[in-house]
Amino acid sequence: MNTLTLIRPDDWHLHLRDGELLATVLPATARRFARAIVMPNLKPPVRTTAEALAYRERILAALPAGMSFEPLMTLYLTDQTQPDEIRRAHDSGQVHAVKYYPAGATTHSDAGLTDPARAAPVFEAMQRLGMPLLIHGEVTDPAVDIFDREAVFIERHLIPLMHDFPSLRIVLEHITTRDAVQFVRESPDTLAATITAHHLLYNRNAMFRGGLRPHFYCLPVLKREAHRSALIEAATSGSPKFFLGTDSAPHPRQDKQSACGCAGIYSAPAAIELYAEAFDTANALHRLEGFASRFGADFYRLPHNRDTLTLERVAMRVPETDPADERLPVPLRAGETVSWRIADGNAVE
Ligand code: NCD
Ligand code: ZN
Repeated sequence: MNTLTLIRPDDWHLHLRDGELLATVLPATARRFARAIVMPNLKPPVRTTAEALAYRERILAALPAGMSFEPLMTLYLTDQTQPDEIRRAHDSGQVHAVKYYPAGATTHSDAGLTDPARAAPVFEAMQRLGMPLLIHGEVTDPAVDIFDREAVFIERHLIPLMHDFPSLRIVLEHITTRDAVQFVRESPDTLAATITAHHLLYNRNAMFRGGLRPHFYCLPVLKREAHRSALIEAATSGSPKFFLGTDSAPHPRQDKQSACGCAGIYSAPAAIELYAEAFDTANALHRLEGFASRFGADFYRLPHNRDTLTLERVAMRVPETDPADERLPVPLRAGETVSWRIADGNAVE
């Protein structure tokens, strides 16, 4: 199979940022995906429906003429979020989920939940309205090794949450471990998970290959090979519980190549191509359409896209960004090739 036509895919976990960076990164996503679940971890975070709708307008205003793209907005859950806000979000028709960051778990998460018990009325409202809760599933307990934070989160927080709110619909975001794969597989259909391209393609050695490689540092951090292969198995299994979410998380080069570099891998400029490469290597290209274009929409109760995207097995070089401009984000594989490209002879932005 040298070409592959898919229902146009969607990205169910994306960081678009704001301002200049938003304008820089948005075209790469809009070129590939019809819709994306847009993360609310701006500074300050997107906490209300009014803020989400205003952010949506800024995204649409940044979209180059002639491109179409639908941002699916989310709210950032804080200790102060009220059930009324969930009702407003739901009624807006534009806010599709609420994001739960444990306070301090990742980039721009200081406003996150300090104690999930305080959010019980909010979870109650979401459960009633069918609004999905998106979870960054890592504990922040400094006593827990960074490579174990996902597995411990499941035990300490996710299991009790699912017990208390059995019909709350949950997406465990960007899963990285065999433990998470197994837990999602064995859970009821109220629980699904997104998987990034980078966690399918790389294990933790990538961060240390010949030196310290900040562009491979993200959260949850890359794990051992055994975990990567469990993720490949899940993504290519045909189970609708696992679907595409890039977690493309651009940061200016100067914030990554620093004494304390930010977490986040910027994969948008080759996102669907990287997934095609991962599925191809696993001899599972026939499973890519479900994962990229159907299962996520089904979970979010949205229609499938009507148009298509064709990929071809032709090596594409991911452009490098101007090394003199410290404000630009550096894409995953910059200056290297990906073995698939979008088939219109014009795959390089
Ligand atoms: C994300 C970011 O930069 O906003 N970083 C990351 O490593 N994935 C935050 C997040 O999703 O954890
Ligand atoms: Zn993210």
